[in-house]
Amino acid sequence: MAVTIVIGTQWGDEGKAKIVDYYAQDADLVVRFQGGANAGHTVKVNDEQFIFHLVPCGAIYPDKRCVIGNGVVVDPKALLEEIDQLLGQGVDVIDRLQISENAHLVMPYHKLTDGLSEASRGSGAIGTTKRGIGPCYVDKVARTEALRMGDLLDPADSRRRVADAVVDKNAVLTKVFGHDPMDADEIADEYLAYSERLGGCIVDTGIVLADAVKSGESVLLEGAQGTLLDVDHGTFPFVTSSNTTAGGACTGTGIGPTQISKVVGTVKAYTSRVGNGPFPTEFETEFGDEMRKEWGEFGASTGRPRRIGWFDAVITRYSARVNGLTDLALTSMDRLDILPELKICVTYEIEGQEVVNFPTRLSVLEKAKPIYETLPGWETSTQEARVFDDLPDNAQRYLRRIEELTGVPVATAGVGPNRHEVVAVGD
Ligand code: IMP
Repeated sequence: MAVTIVIGTQWGDEGKAKIVDYYAQDADLVVRFQGGANAGHTVKVNDEQFIFHLVPCGAIYPDKRCVIGNGVVVDPKALLEEIDQLLGQGVDVIDRLQISENAHLVMPYHKLTDGLSEASRGSGAIGTTKRGIGPCYVDKVARTEALRMGDLLDPADSRRRVADAVVDKNAVLTKVFGHDPMDADEIADEYLAYSERLGGCIVDTGIVLADAVKSGESVLLEGAQGTLLDVDHGTFPFVTSSNTTAGGACTGTGIGPTQISKVVGTVKAYTSRVGNGPFPTEFETEFGDEMRKEWGEFGASTGRPRRIGWFDAVITRYSARVNGLTDLALTSMDRLDILPELKICVTYEIEGQEVVNFPTRLSVLEKAKPIYETLPGWETSTQEARVFDDLPDNAQRYLRRIEELTGVPVATAGVGPNRHEVVAVGD
């Protein structure tokens, strides 16, 4: 297995957690490399649901080591709540969790300004999770007023940094947003209390991972969100603030690109997105409402209704390119069991022209009309299928058509929410 990356190929919520859980069986370490508590990764084991936001979901296996890499933005309050929630469910992770000293800290003013900025954008709002992700990455890239996990190990220094940051943050809060100022001491006290529990986890994870790779351990890099939410390659500005694509796995961990052996793209058998922005294959309202209810398409982090639509091969081809995908992991195939016919968007029509490549300029994408091909449904349950030949003929045809249109082999197909409900398609 060596180093495997699992990423989302659409707008997130492709069911990455289940795929990470699948590959984690053979991993020694499972690593998050970008994003933060905006992620909501759900794994279902024997009908018990585990929801992960910051902890790599490989934590479910008691023998796996878990790493939060330098590219992640860590909200220590959310992390400790998650650690405690998992402990309540019998998953004890803190002693096998290592967090990069260079991972940036999400501070209370990041969460506050995330909400205030969104409100001020009005109808142009991005639809963020309001977890402070964007403002935290802003401070990282601006290289000022930023605090990193390692800073918590030096209480006096942290206190001084928080005090400096809060002066500037308060100027913006009060003068731009007309909000009450924040109290620097209160924030420093709160964060230093978190460091009492998390301090033992904070290390140079670059060395941990390099040693693991060198000694032949298997490392699984767990992406969050999806390719179209990537700050460079996504539907900007309706994106998140990190590199969700495979390249982000290298910068967010310090593992070099030559060490990567496999890039698995998780792809839903249809398409969904939360938040605002263009979505060419989105269902017409009534059908969409019906399917959303049927499929339970509500966000794991925020509970927001997800927008849903047909499978879009233009998007998946684009994802295959920008991620260098070696395999596809198709998910939620069983949800299509009820439909008499299925549409796949093969190309777009933009101003009378057929377009094969995904347009990355928003003003062009907004004009894209999907060109569909229609395939017959299978109208029978796939939930018991475990190998390719168990799938009904029309489901096999659907899957093979996705491979043809994207140029990437499908390795697995998910046919239910539970861990074992997976069809092994490839070798
Ligand atoms: P942010 O990451 O909270 O700044 O939100 C930016 C955009 O990314 C919004 O459209 C969010 O809905 C979307 N987003 C963030 N995290 C996730 C996720 O885990 N799944 C799906 N969409 C997400």
